[in-house]
Amino acid sequence: MSENKSSGYASKLTAKRVLVLGGTSGIGLAVAEAVKEFGGKIFVSSSSQSKIDAAISRLNAAENKVLYRAETKAQGYRCELDNLEELESNLIALFEHVTEGRRHKLDHVVYTAGNKVGSVPLTVTDTKMITEHGILRFYVPIIIGKLALDYITVSAQSSITLTSGVNNIKPVAGRVLMAGWGSGVEGITRALAVDLRPIRVNCICPGPTKTELFDGFPDDVLQPLLERYKSSTMTRTIGTPEDVSESYLYCMRDTFVDGTVIHSSGGYLLA
Ligand SMILES: NC(=O)c1ccc[n+]([C@@H]2O[C@H](COP(=O)([O-])OP(=O)(O)OC[C@H]3O[C@@H](n4cnc5c(N)ncnc54)[C@H](OP(=O)(O)O)[C@@H]3O)[C@@H](O)[C@H]2O)c1
Repeated sequence: MSENKSSGYASKLTAKRVLVLGGTSGIGLAVAEAVKEFGGKIFVSSSSQSKIDAAISRLNAAENKVLYRAETKAQGYRCELDNLEELESNLIALFEHVTEGRRHKLDHVVYTAGNKVGSVPLTVTDTKMITEHGILRFYVPIIIGKLALDYITVSAQSSITLTSGVNNIKPVAGRVLMAGWGSGVEGITRALAVDLRPIRVNCICPGPTKTELFDGFPDDVLQPLLERYKSSTMTRTIGTPEDVSESYLYCMRDTFVDGTVIHSSGGYLLA
């Protein structure tokens, strides 16, 4: 490699069109910030317009951090995903919007949408709850896959990155639903990588990460919970969205990573 020639590592996301579903808080918002910093054209979506507005102001206020200038204004669209009847039509409307009717296809789709669930004792679990817990975690990634060939540029440069969680491998009590659907996402990842080739499909498996998911806990509950999570990792830390977002960036930027699950969990499985 010539010493004076830029190798292009830092500009791999410049002008790339990236949609983050669940990009208005936590891990998804950190991914959106990072993509924008690298000069990508970022679209975020979630179910709450006020969260979208707040995320867009935050993303567009950070103009001075942009390293590689392309067309970098972030845009946000509302898309409710937790309704089985409307799921596919809502996703089609979102994809039509961000691709301007398929004229400008996406380079990358990141899926981090998730809601609070916590532990559900088996004794109160019924079939309705099983389905409800699976909509965001399992149904949505499959429908994203179904729509991908229409809205994502068909190329090994393109990618979809899904999200699971360490509970699917090392569950604590009461996590049957999360573990079940979480494992499902990892299976979907490999199958979609086959069905959608050459578009790459990967999954990030985060460990305990301090995001807005923890909002609303009173301090006397939150602090012991955070301490317990810290002691459940080898690093004795809890993840930050900025840490975990690196794994999503990697899956977009390494055009040879496909059908893989990447862990960002402070060594949770070993602790
Ligand atoms: N944080 C952790 O410790 C951890 C650990 C392992 C796995 N994970 C997984 O990682 C993913 C991201 O977690 P996070 O901690 O970053 O969560 P978060 O901060 O709560 O963000 C979740 C995102 O999903 C969106 N969302 C929630 N319900 C939605 C719906 N019905 N329709 C559309 N969008 C919806 C939220 O926006 P709206 O509220 O506006 O809809 C928000 O943008 C989740 O799948 C989570 O299960 C997290």
